[in-house]
Amino acid sequence: MKTILTGLRPTGNLHLGHYFGAGINYLKLQDEYDFYLEIADVQALTDNFNNPLKVRENVLEITKDLLAIGLDPKKVHFFIQSKIPPIAELTVFYSNLVTVARLQRNPTVKNEIMQKKDLFGNNGESITYGFLGYPVSQAADITAFDGEVVPVGDDQLPLLEQCREIVRKFNSIYGNTLKEPVQVLSNTTRVKGLDGNEKMGKSLNNAIYLVDDEKTIEKKIMGTLTDTNKIKKDDPANPNKCMVYYYHNLVNKKENTTKICSECQKGERGCVACKKELIEAMNAFLEPIKKRRSLYDDEKVKEILKEGTDIALSKAENQLKKVKNAMKIDY
Ligand code: TRP
Repeated sequence: MKTILTGLRPTGNLHLGHYFGAGINYLKLQDEYDFYLEIADVQALTDNFNNPLKVRENVLEITKDLLAIGLDPKKVHFFIQSKIPPIAELTVFYSNLVTVARLQRNPTVKNEIMQKKDLFGNNGESITYGFLGYPVSQAADITAFDGEVVPVGDDQLPLLEQCREIVRKFNSIYGNTLKEPVQVLSNTTRVKGLDGNEKMGKSLNNAIYLVDDEKTIEKKIMGTLTDTNKIKKDDPANPNKCMVYYYHNLVNKKENTTKICSECQKGERGCVACKKELIEAMNAFLEPIKKRRSLYDDEKVKEILKEGTDIALSKAENQLKKVKNAMKIDY
């Protein structure tokens, strides 16, 4: 079985965007690969260094979310980045192989710096060494496990490219040691936000979380954007301009959505009734996910992380040995 490696920053719970974007793909991949799933707490700290409790809490939260969607701890090695010292060591060695200018040109890093003006200044003038260097640490994440395949969203492609550059440079200087990883795009479906924004996101405050309770779901859906041209209950409307219809398509049955669409177009369906139906469908969709989540208490999740971390550590130590050997520092 080939090795697959991906990581998530533990900074919040998973929402529908994660589920349809990445989660569904992970479910397939866990049967086809030896799957390492990193809870990237060290990377999360690069832009949350001033909020360590948030990162700590979310390590368990995000692991529970991933288990809740159906990832099987017998197939997936869940591990915590900070518990794998070889990743930190590899990061130091790789940092010689990348220029500061190249990191500054990385489109993903550039975008993120501009989004985090409160931390890094209006023009990124207060950028930290740690944040600028996180692509190097991500290359260490991947190569520490001999990761051949990396499922990522398209925003992460420049990081993969940078990882391959580091691998090539390493191999050309120290001899053929590391594998160049290939990506599989995991976010083939992009889920829109409650406000109609192209992207559902935590920072955009427009997300439905997998852990949202029924009251929260009701509140969020009742406030969702519908076709603004529809004034009265029996006005015909355009379902394609309505977020309620959009989410019906995600979570409701096909036969229902066909009916909803035609009723809406003919003015035979009021928005309030339509939202109530969506609330029901959304809760029905989330129910099995929440049920599975409830099977995992903190102790059980810690055990799963411990088991995965043990396996990950022994693999990474092995890989570090090979790297040190190649670099002539195997004293
Ligand atoms: N940078 C990734 C993100 O923000 C998370 C991540 C950390 C990752 N380490 C990784 C992704 C290794 C792929 C491979 O989503």
